[in-house]
Amino acid sequence: MVQRVKQMQDEGIEVLGLTAGEPDFTPPKVAEEAGIEAIRNGMGRYTAAAGTQELRQAICEHIRQDLRLAYEPSQIVVTNGAKIAIVQSLLALVQEGDEVLVPTPCWTSYPEMVKLADAKPVILGCDERNFPRVADLEAQRTPATRALLLNTPNNPTGAVLPEALLREIGEWALEHGISVISDEIYASLVYDGATHHSPMAVVPGLQETSVLVGGMSKAYAMTGWRMGFLAAPQMLATAVGALQSQLAGSPSAIAQIASVAALRHGGEAREQMRQAFEHRRRRVVETLQAVDGLECAMPDGAFYAFPDLGPFLGRRDPATGRTIGNGDDFIEVLLEADRVACIGGSAFGSPDSFRISFAASDEVLEEALRRIAARLAALLQKNLSGPGRSPTRPGRKKD
Ligand SMILES: Cc1ncc(COP(=O)(O)O)c(C=O)c1O
Repeated sequence: MVQRVKQMQDEGIEVLGLTAGEPDFTPPKVAEEAGIEAIRNGMGRYTAAAGTQELRQAICEHIRQDLRLAYEPSQIVVTNGAKIAIVQSLLALVQEGDEVLVPTPCWTSYPEMVKLADAKPVILGCDERNFPRVADLEAQRTPATRALLLNTPNNPTGAVLPEALLREIGEWALEHGISVISDEIYASLVYDGATHHSPMAVVPGLQETSVLVGGMSKAYAMTGWRMGFLAAPQMLATAVGALQSQLAGSPSAIAQIASVAALRHGGEAREQMRQAFEHRRRRVVETLQAVDGLECAMPDGAFYAFPDLGPFLGRRDPATGRTIGNGDDFIEVLLEADRVACIGGSAFGSPDSFRISFAASDEVLEEALRRIAARLAALLQKNLSGPGRSPTRPGRKKD
């Protein structure tokens, strides 16, 4: 979808894009300046495979301060993006025949990453707040279950898992020897007093078995700098470092220097961005909630809204004549008729929904939301409507 929008825009077609998985902000100035200076000073050489000592130290300080977790620099591996941190954790942890539990809705890449590591993704649904349930995890557990992929705050739902639930899940994982790969890339983007908790901080025993993943992309608007990291038990961190020395050599030297500056001095810029997202999120979700029939939970974190199309499914769109069978049909109609681009829910294992990114300017958001609301209202018009149906999500249980 992102590529299609780009192509349409290149052809001169005006499209309002709400697809972005990246902040529409620039990195903290200090990070940019540090990067420029590093280039001028000829610092663009290979570094240690697991990252520079200075950045690993800065990451430890960041984790201690933000997540209340103590790690040694030797337990940190700096990676070329959080994505690679997750893939390399899986490559180090699982092998053919292993199973990895993946609660959905989830980030598109998780099931594919598990398959890349020769293991089997076991997809399971969440409750109506988009929280995984221990009973569901337990129901899917087999002797082959090796790991659980958790993501809080969540892409695409914005759900922030509460401390009590993380305790329950963490203790269950520990009891059954299941490693948690905890993707906390959106940790700093929580709103209206919501608190992010790392499962490792809630259940300290997990620090011996599990992996914490973070990065610079979302918190510091540094997506293209490709900087992520993981914190893991020493043996696992050493293994991932060795793997990385063969796969990537080392992470980008210049981006590492910029990341040290961002982590040490970019806090204010990070907070300003968070506040901007907090403001937009309220406007976006309140507009969506005002649409007759549309269900949209208020996301506590990240920068996405994930409305459920339940009552709109099965309806025929008057402008295009298309019947809306799922979120993918809806986003096609939106693109064709309204020139608004979103992402269909099937990409996240939740086909009846669609994802709106609010990493877009106020003007774009306002106009795009107006068009989305009008399209939904048109779908519900009685004389044109089909039967409609209530939400049904394969693999997704409701309370
Ligand atoms: C949940 C989640 N984890 C990880 C990533 C990857 O981040 P990075 O840019 O650091 O590779 C993304 C990017 O969209 C994401 O949404």
